[in-house]
Amino acid sequence: MINSLSEFKVTSAKALENPDGFWSEVASEFHWKSPWKQTLDYDFSKPEVKWFVGGKLNITENCLDRHLATQPNKTAILFEPNDPTETAQHITYKELHKRVCQTANMLMANGAKKGDRICIYMPMVPELAIAVLACARIGAIHSVVFAGFSATALAARINDASCSMLLTADGGFRGAKTIALKEIADDALTSCSTVNCCLVLQRTQQEVQWNSIDKWWHEELEKIDDNCPAEVMDSEDPLFILYTSGSTGKPKGMVHTCGGYMVYTAYTFKNVFQCQPNDVYWCTADIGWITGHSYIVYGPLANGATTVMFEGVPSYPAFDRFWEVCAKHNITHFYTAPTAIRALEKHPTSLVEKHDLSSLKVLGSVGEPINAEAWHWYDKHVGKHNCPIVDTWWQTETGGILISSLAGVTPQKPTFATLPMPGVQTVLLNNEGDEIEGEGEGILAIKHPWPSIARTIWGDHERYKNVYFSAYPGYYFPGDGALRDAEGNFRITGRVDDVVIVSGHNLGTAPIENAINEHPNVVESAVVGFPHDVKGNALHAFAIVRSRADDNETLKNELRALVAKTIGPIAKPDRIQVVSGLPKTRSGKIMRRILRKLAAGEYDQLGDVSTLLNPEVVEEIKQNK
Ligand code: WTA
Repeated sequence: MINSLSEFKVTSAKALENPDGFWSEVASEFHWKSPWKQTLDYDFSKPEVKWFVGGKLNITENCLDRHLATQPNKTAILFEPNDPTETAQHITYKELHKRVCQTANMLMANGAKKGDRICIYMPMVPELAIAVLACARIGAIHSVVFAGFSATALAARINDASCSMLLTADGGFRGAKTIALKEIADDALTSCSTVNCCLVLQRTQQEVQWNSIDKWWHEELEKIDDNCPAEVMDSEDPLFILYTSGSTGKPKGMVHTCGGYMVYTAYTFKNVFQCQPNDVYWCTADIGWITGHSYIVYGPLANGATTVMFEGVPSYPAFDRFWEVCAKHNITHFYTAPTAIRALEKHPTSLVEKHDLSSLKVLGSVGEPINAEAWHWYDKHVGKHNCPIVDTWWQTETGGILISSLAGVTPQKPTFATLPMPGVQTVLLNNEGDEIEGEGEGILAIKHPWPSIARTIWGDHERYKNVYFSAYPGYYFPGDGALRDAEGNFRITGRVDDVVIVSGHNLGTAPIENAINEHPNVVESAVVGFPHDVKGNALHAFAIVRSRADDNETLKNELRALVAKTIGPIAKPDRIQVVSGLPKTRSGKIMRRILRKLAAGEYDQLGDVSTLLNPEVVEEIKQNK
């Protein structure tokens, strides 16, 4: 673990000078079934990246078996249910190991094998983490789909990866609501021919329909034992697929591999959070997102930490639920999203103050830029000016944190993610693709691979190349803008493409437009983000309709319902505006930049609209807003 600023500087210099030597040393701390022959093999022009080439391992041996000798009775997963009156569960490393092995055997008994894709559509209960690890145990590739996604979105993801199995639950608790997961899964499976087994966990005990491929999880578990040797995996075998939004309608199935992902998530967890043996670490994300994969499951467990899984929401039963849980479990590390902080900041600070938060040592932020107000509120009311805040910048594609301070070790700067991790070579580019030296603002890019970079998009390597390696040849292009101060600290300024981050969720505008266009009365639409004080960004949809007479609430509700049905409720636009035209260039391209300014009400920043094909619609949009 890096313990001081000087050690950080020495480590970063060493990693820059000799990346192979540096990562090889880091990787040697893990349990490998056989060593790698070459540390790194890469060519960004293909693009191709391989780490720890020829090495054999199983990530679950590193997350579980390794700890059995030293700390079998330490809590691995601390589960806090949605309902505060339901008892929390402390699952030890020994018990987790046993349950993962049992579940792995259950998967195999139902036909799963190495290389198969298994879709997981589950609530935030321990069995979700166990299912993920069970897949990894047998070498099946897990594809977790966030349980807030609709049947259409779930089916698209199952079909894209040709999953042979679906793991789900009867339902899930979320605040005062229950979500009928099995019903949504059933709906999805009507259009998924590759799935031949659906294992159903009982969580809510609600009534479900039963199909020929369905089996109850608890009944299947009774049939098998808990002896399950870990499958030998190549370092470059896929570990999982996780979908993220892109600028076209189709989600991108990012593929992460076993060796590099393990090394990098474990290394960054250890150094960014600086967790000590008796600490209790809580990341409030959902395992359906990359943050949950890397920093609820794999990173913490690879380090033998205690990781909290929370089933509920920050507002239930009241807006002090986070703080109540912190006090109840003596949380030392609390890692959440700016959107949650902004939502909680709106409520009286007495809700925070009434709980004893003295166990807290480190706070974290992830998912979107944290604005100054939220940063200071977090620092003052939650951290009592006594906890370093790590603002961690990274992506589904990067697998782990690329830019962040190390808690209490390197300096923090409000609203800045600060410095890259050792071994991460971040640069700023201007529009021509030249590197900007020193202070400046531009496009963020990375010039050398790190171990957990996604290796491809499932089934579409060409798209992987086009999206991430073609805009600026020789660099990985994440799609974010950034500025850098004189000390080299980075502040992420936001997306530079058509992805909008709403409440920390990555949403591509294209699939939302496609959903809206499905409506028989819609001719064309454009969706843009605009600043929102809680969600960070919200969506504004502009739609051209066949009959203006139908411009009413019914139409808008139908459009929102279509979006909820095709993507999920999180993608519903806050505003829908019917327009007679969309501002277009003479070549017919929609001028999203202008729509963004219109949606934000920044009329004085529209620039010259006279070159548009239809400048008159700009005036009309302003008038009718
Ligand atoms: C944004 C989430 C500013 C960014 C881990 C990135 C951030 C996208 C930060 C990836 C941060 C994430 N500061 N922006 N600390 N963290 N982002 O794939 O735009 O869900 O490209 O991964 O979130 O979102 P994703």
